[in-house]
Amino acid sequence: MDWGMANRLGRIFRPDSKRTVMLAVDHGYFLGPTSGLEKLGDTIAPLLPHADCLMLTRGALRQWVPPTTNIPIMLRVSGGTSIVSNDNETSALSNESLSVSMEDALRLNVSGVAVSIFVGTEHERQTLDNLSQMVDLGERHGVPVLAVTAVGRDMVRELRYLALCCRLSAELGAHIVKTYYCDGFEKIIEATPAPVVIAGGKKIPERDALQLAFDAVDRGAAGVDMGRNIFQSAAPVQMIQAVGAIVHQNATVEDAWGLVAPALGA
Ligand code: 5RP
Repeated sequence: MDWGMANRLGRIFRPDSKRTVMLAVDHGYFLGPTSGLEKLGDTIAPLLPHADCLMLTRGALRQWVPPTTNIPIMLRVSGGTSIVSNDNETSALSNESLSVSMEDALRLNVSGVAVSIFVGTEHERQTLDNLSQMVDLGERHGVPVLAVTAVGRDMVRELRYLALCCRLSAELGAHIVKTYYCDGFEKIIEATPAPVVIAGGKKIPERDALQLAFDAVDRGAAGVDMGRNIFQSAAPVQMIQAVGAIVHQNATVEDAWGLVAPALGA
């Protein structure tokens, strides 16, 4: 592996645990001012010391992250749709194109780029092509590509579908794959020849989110790329610390919950 690629991957995944706590705050690229991210800079400032990597868009990076901040950046480079695009068309969200050039990603000194794929939707082919194009550019410039296995409005987050998405992403050359936790998750890990990280999904009770992170890591995930279950919590700093304890120190759910519960008055 090229030095640049290895160096960037080594910044995303902590060398001691070979895992990552990636903080995802890219939701605005299609959801607009997501709850908790209206003032994105204020939200992430206390969280950054506890994150290994920050996933966001180009505009958010420029606006809200001081260039002196020493955190590896996972830059979202696909987009072009919104939560209200063609409401009556179920696969409208999948109609993404590449939204940032590799040249600009390199200028922003990112550690990785993220592309969504929408398998089983009307726009499957173009999103897989987006991924392949970025992988070619990533290989040329030493930049890892994260494939986000985004789920279309009418797709079910179950093993058969997610395993397909993850394997496909890795076979197309993604260096990291992001998916959702599901029953039988270990089978996804067995069949995906790339590190897999999980999204948290919609906000759920804190203890359940910690259980989700634990189950994923216990079954082979290389960490999390989690957003709402951290920044929408009433105790976001404690949540990211607790997730970090699970990811990097193999903490139990009980131990991790112990870091969060007092702050929630639970
Ligand atoms: C959207 C994304 C988000 O980064 C992803 O959903 C992670 O955030 P959350 O944990 O809130 O689900 O890639 O396509």
